[in-house]
Amino acid sequence: MLMSSTAGHAAGNVDAGRKLFGQCAACHAVGKTAGHQFGPMLNGVMERPAASADGYSYSDALKQAAQNGLVWDEPSLDAFLESPMTYVVGTKMAFAGMRDEAQRQDMIAFLQQIDSSGSGATATVEPPAANSLVSESSAPEAQRPLARDTTVPEHGVLHLGRLALPEEVAAWDIDIRPDGLGLPTGSGSVETGGQIYDAQCAVCHGVFGEGAGRWPVLAGGFDTLSDERPEKTIGSYWPYVSTVYDYVRRAMPFGNARSLSDDDVYALTAYLLYLNDQVSEDFTLSTDNFASITLPNVDNFIADDRMEEVHYASREEPCMQDCIPGEATVTQRARVLDVTPDNGDDDNAGGGID
Ligand code: HEC
Ligand code: HEC
Repeated sequence: MLMSSTAGHAAGNVDAGRKLFGQCAACHAVGKTAGHQFGPMLNGVMERPAASADGYSYSDALKQAAQNGLVWDEPSLDAFLESPMTYVVGTKMAFAGMRDEAQRQDMIAFLQQIDSSGSGATATVEPPAANSLVSESSAPEAQRPLARDTTVPEHGVLHLGRLALPEEVAAWDIDIRPDGLGLPTGSGSVETGGQIYDAQCAVCHGVFGEGAGRWPVLAGGFDTLSDERPEKTIGSYWPYVSTVYDYVRRAMPFGNARSLSDDDVYALTAYLLYLNDQVSEDFTLSTDNFASITLPNVDNFIADDRMEEVHYASREEPCMQDCIPGEATVTQRARVLDVTPDNGDDDNAGGGID
């Protein structure tokens, strides 16, 4: 291992630091052919005054810090990397920081042994990992891996935003699977559901789910799926009760979404099942019996097994060029399908689907 004879030895692990450099490589390069990118080239950065790489346009904040005597050594680099934007307020290094002290030590150990010519940037024994963005003389600019192929920092490759809090994730994570996974614990009866429905839903969806005005119909429509204008309702079309619970909890009542309690939603789901003749009027829906209810149309929903069909399974990459030998000929015009408007003023003008 090559070590600079003047620089001290940081406690960190050079190879680990080299891997971690993937987090920096979106903006910085090191190595024999490295130049400035969005951030300054970092060859030989240790022990040199801040903001002193030739030809790079630093922020006023970092230049000022340099005038006040900032030199990159272990303590200053450690503090900078932990939280660049608090250590040098106004720096244009928009990087959230490395919170983990051991990682910072590894990073510093890696930077420390790269001299100003760039040697030390790549591993001497092992070839560089495919996902390290470290450049070296044998790897021309164009062959360097893209940022998207490198280790993505916790907060995302663009270094924007922050991680969602667990409470936020929990608040968003309300989907329910057909088998009931994700359901909150609770229950609600058809009777209670009817009361809530009359008060909060009937104004739009009609007293019996028949739909008021042009608001959606929620019940009925059995045996209409093959009609010209099928009436798709929870009873006639929807495959799973979980969709009803999920939808009502997420989106209804329209204009006042997320205002219902979990038990209210159980009760409303029970009532909607009742309106669709799926349960009796004394039924109570609960976490325990939820998965036992199947809707009539469930069998007409099938998993997408397209890739197992002969037509697809036998295919490799789709042909994109010269797929048919010989010259191309037009075999059909859109007019034949009657979707192209006729020109002029004849009766058919406008054509298309009605
Ligand atoms: C989003 C882009 C970005 C990322 C990611 C980034 N930096 Fe920077 N870095 C910069 C910019 C821009 C500057 C110049 C700061 C200024 O002028 O205020 C800088 C400056 C520096 C400096 C000071 C250099 C000098 O010449 O004074 C060091 C050291 C440094 N970065 C190390 C790192 C390390 C190590 C990482 C990874 C852990 C990293 N940076 C990640 C953009 C980035
Ligand atoms: C202000 C009118 C209004 C009220 C009140 C209302 N809804 Fe809705 N509901 C809608 C609209 C509009 C849609 C269609 C929304 C869409 O497609 O984006 C809808 C869709 C639905 C659907 C899905 C229908 C389908 O087949 O796609 C269900 C189920 C539903 N509402 C249940 C309820 C329940 C239960 C309540 C009472 C808690 C309620 N709605 C209150 C207007 C209303």
